[in-house]
Amino acid sequence: MPEFRPATPADLDAIAALDVDLFGPESWSRATHREELASPFRRYLCVVDEGRLVGWGGIIVAPASDLVTIGVARTHQRRGIGAALLAALLAEANGEGIEEMFLEVRADDAGAQRLYERAGFEAIAVRPNYYQATGTDAVVMHKALKSRQ
Ligand SMILES: CC(C)(COP(=O)(O)OP(=O)(O)OC[C@H]1O[C@@H](n2cnc3c(N)ncnc32)[C@H](O)[C@@H]1OP(=O)(O)O)[C@@H](O)C(=O)NCCC(=O)NCCS
Repeated sequence: MPEFRPATPADLDAIAALDVDLFGPESWSRATHREELASPFRRYLCVVDEGRLVGWGGIIVAPASDLVTIGVARTHQRRGIGAALLAALLAEANGEGIEEMFLEVRADDAGAQRLYERAGFEAIAVRPNYYQATGTDAVVMHKALKSRQ
């Protein structure tokens, strides 16, 4: 069974490699990943299966938070790991007293949008050309969290 735990700076190489594989031209630089993992205003979790990092995701720690990213290795997709990781990040957010969460998702990624809808996110806007490397639009999604209800 995959294990969920907080990501640490020691996960940098594995996260950067998974990011490149999943997001290609839209992946982040190593420097950005390093800053993200070290920031006190972020919470990153990772998923480890048999010693290999197979997923990671993070949120911004602020009253109106953003789901920064979420990714599951191709070998491990469609096994419920993305949904479990999202639930774990939402639990972190509730624990931090975060009131609402936003996210951006590629307008052409129906699978990811479905994942978020099933977790209670609703589409509220479209940002044209949000993903500059490919010129793809983003759908902005929103969810009110327990701490506000
Ligand atoms: C999006 C992503 C994180 C989903 O992770 P996952 O572990 O495969 O997701 P799950 O198995 O938990 O799927 C949960 C539900 O989301 C939906 N879903 C997820 N991937 C889907 C796909 N490729 N096509 C259709 N529906 C999909 C389904 O409703 C699924 O439930 P089901 O399998 O019972 O039908 C993963 O596909 C990924 O890393 N993709 C590349 C990176 C990415 O696009 N990240 C999102 C950026 S906003």
